[in-house]
Amino acid sequence: MIVLSHLTKDYTDDEHALNGVSLTIPDGDIFGIIGMSGAGKSTLVRCVNLLEHPTSGTIEVDGQNIEELSGQALRDYRHHMAMIFQNFGLLSQRTTLQNVCFPYLAANNKITDADREEAKGFLERVGLADKVDSYPAQLSGGQKQRVAIARALACHPKYILCDEATSALDPASTASVLKLLNEINQENGITILVITHSMEVVEKICKHVAVLVKGKVVEEGSVKDVFANPQHHETRRLLGKEQWVD
Ligand SMILES: Nc1ncnc2c1ncn2[C@@H]1O[C@H](COP(=O)(O)OP(=O)(O)OP(=O)(O)O)[C@@H](O)[C@H]1O
Ligand SMILES: [Mg+2]
Repeated sequence: MIVLSHLTKDYTDDEHALNGVSLTIPDGDIFGIIGMSGAGKSTLVRCVNLLEHPTSGTIEVDGQNIEELSGQALRDYRHHMAMIFQNFGLLSQRTTLQNVCFPYLAANNKITDADREEAKGFLERVGLADKVDSYPAQLSGGQKQRVAIARALACHPKYILCDEATSALDPASTASVLKLLNEINQENGITILVITHSMEVVEKICKHVAVLVKGKVVEEGSVKDVFANPQHHETRRLLGKEQWVD
């Protein structure tokens, strides 16, 4: 479980990128965080994986205040908090299999035959058994994101953080990547945090959603309730039920 309490992040003196965010992300959930550009979504994710340190507030993951982690415990924490990005983050000079094996190298400074076999299994799992020796440039956007998902699985994650994972994909690839994430959540029990500006994405896979506006959560709840009865005007705008003019 991830518990954010009164989380604030200031990059400058006059602006809060996050402004008192309190959220609980239950185990096994697919939790959406939606908001317009600049709302603070990526900042929130970067705080959760400690690429950024919050200015104030706390982040507890499985009961541990993550800012108290150091050394091997911190490396382990980061390793098991897998990330999936909009631009895939694959190494272009490495094959698909080498990309998926990267987490083993990062964790143990070596890749064993068992690691390679496991990585091939993950590539098979994401439907890319025939692309093991391909390079990223030879793959479609949807296939690249599947490689990134296989690489995330090689971290043996308890959590996967997706920052606009489908924003660069066409509708068909988006649908198949979301289906895959949903299956991974169901089958492996991995909790997934989905950052998006698309209500369609939220509707397709999330159980819960929080709406972020200028660093603040203005509305949260089950996707069913929020879609049926949106309370905040920003939520209604994101749902296309209200005009964007002020
Ligand atoms: N490294 C940084 N230094 C200074 N300001 C930053 C930095 N990163 C983000 N910001 C500012 O913090 C605010 C939130 O940015 P953030 O990237 O978290 O938004 P976002 O919701 O992810 O937007 P997008 O949908 O465009 O990705 C913005 O005002 C942005 O300019
Ligand atoms: Mg962002």
